[in-house]
Amino acid sequence: MNKDTITMTNNRTNEQYDFNILDATRGPSVVDISSFYKETGMFTYDVGYTSTASCKSNITFIDGEKGELRYRGMLIEELAENHSYLETCYLLLNGHLPTTEQLLDFDLELRHRSFIDESLHHLIDAFPDAAHPMSILASGVSALASFYYEHLNMKDEQECQDMARRIIAKIPTLAAFAYRKSLGIPFIYPNIDLSFTENFLYMMRAYPGGKMKRTANGEEKIKPIEIKALDTIFTLHADHEQNASTTTVRNVASTGAHPYVAISAGISALWGRAHGGANESVMAQMEMIGDVKNVDAFIERAKDPNDEFRLMGFGHRVYKNFDPRAKALKKLQDQLKDELNLDSKLMDIAHRIEEIALNDEYFIKRNLYPNIDFYSGVILTALGIKRPMFTAIFVIGRTVGWITQLMEFKNDSSSKIARPRQLYLGS
Ligand code: CMC
Repeated sequence: MNKDTITMTNNRTNEQYDFNILDATRGPSVVDISSFYKETGMFTYDVGYTSTASCKSNITFIDGEKGELRYRGMLIEELAENHSYLETCYLLLNGHLPTTEQLLDFDLELRHRSFIDESLHHLIDAFPDAAHPMSILASGVSALASFYYEHLNMKDEQECQDMARRIIAKIPTLAAFAYRKSLGIPFIYPNIDLSFTENFLYMMRAYPGGKMKRTANGEEKIKPIEIKALDTIFTLHADHEQNASTTTVRNVASTGAHPYVAISAGISALWGRAHGGANESVMAQMEMIGDVKNVDAFIERAKDPNDEFRLMGFGHRVYKNFDPRAKALKKLQDQLKDELNLDSKLMDIAHRIEEIALNDEYFIKRNLYPNIDFYSGVILTALGIKRPMFTAIFVIGRTVGWITQLMEFKNDSSSKIARPRQLYLGS
């Protein structure tokens, strides 16, 4: 008997089939069923891909039982505490952290690439007042494909790197423009004197002419602690293996569509409240709860099988333990408590929800722990960022993950167009 295979018996026909077991460097092995249909004449059935590995990857690893997340082998806690978001981007794109010189080059390149074509301003301007930033962002990124369509050769390593760096650099500008459009205030161009994260805060906050708010004490500066907080949030969102939006990006790219169109599709997939849109919903829910004394009633609703209400920011398909990103954000929240103006009412509601849910039989039995979206909103609110922008912040962090996964897909000679089958039950 070959120990590296799995044998299946069809009890209807008594036929036996062997399928190869492929080992992972970490995590569960997989059964290679690519020849399943050819051999058995049947499809496999797995709604929501709960047991399906859709690709080979060496970018990000999650151990959902332990609550562990690694980018290129490095633990997320180490990256969040000791490395910047740009170092993390470089790590994801290249497989190793940059040297000081490489980081400087990368940083300067992103600064210089952060501008967007003037005609994109008109596109954004054409949106209705108060349009949601995610809608503008998805359209803006899709439009970017038209500006960089002619000269994209995915077989050329340098062109791929340029394509990746360009989108990482331009996303914050598009997001900040989308934000300002949603608030009805004039766009602010990037400032190449500022770092990636500081520039993004600047583009959201500055007054026309690039001046910051005036106070009795002079010009209000962006605080280093604010830059560090947002930079850490970007790092924690940078990649998350084959989640819904990343799978969307890979699937769209599998048809040969332009990478930026694939990223735009990823943005749309992320917007849903079961995925990245949860951060906005968490905050909306906390505001709806309104007071710590109302928390218990909402927890009861979340547990009621006849009520569609779900506790936003709780639960995860992969984590059956604390989401390590949530742990890192909780720690960040505690560190920021004294330095940033964290909303104490929101914090009290969040603490109470956490306290009840972590001790309640319903949540314990289903392994429902707080996820990353549960904690990010309170910090983003303290940074003065309005709620509709929360998921766009997730987009900025995740763009590097999407583009890295897309490049891996393109470089994998076994990649195919994504084309699942179905269990037909019609007439
Ligand atoms: N509140 C109450 N009950 C829940 C929740 C919740 N947030 N999440 C799951 N459950 C229950 C669900 O009702 C089901 O119960 P039962 O077994 O009695 O039918 C059980 O837990 C399993 O849930 P599921 O929907 O089958 O699990 P899933 O893996 O398909 O869904 C999820 C995962 C994240 C979509 C879901 O937990 C959810 O909707 N959470 C709230 C939205 C949220 O916070 N999303 C952000 C995810 S983290 C950011 C990201 O990476 O996207």
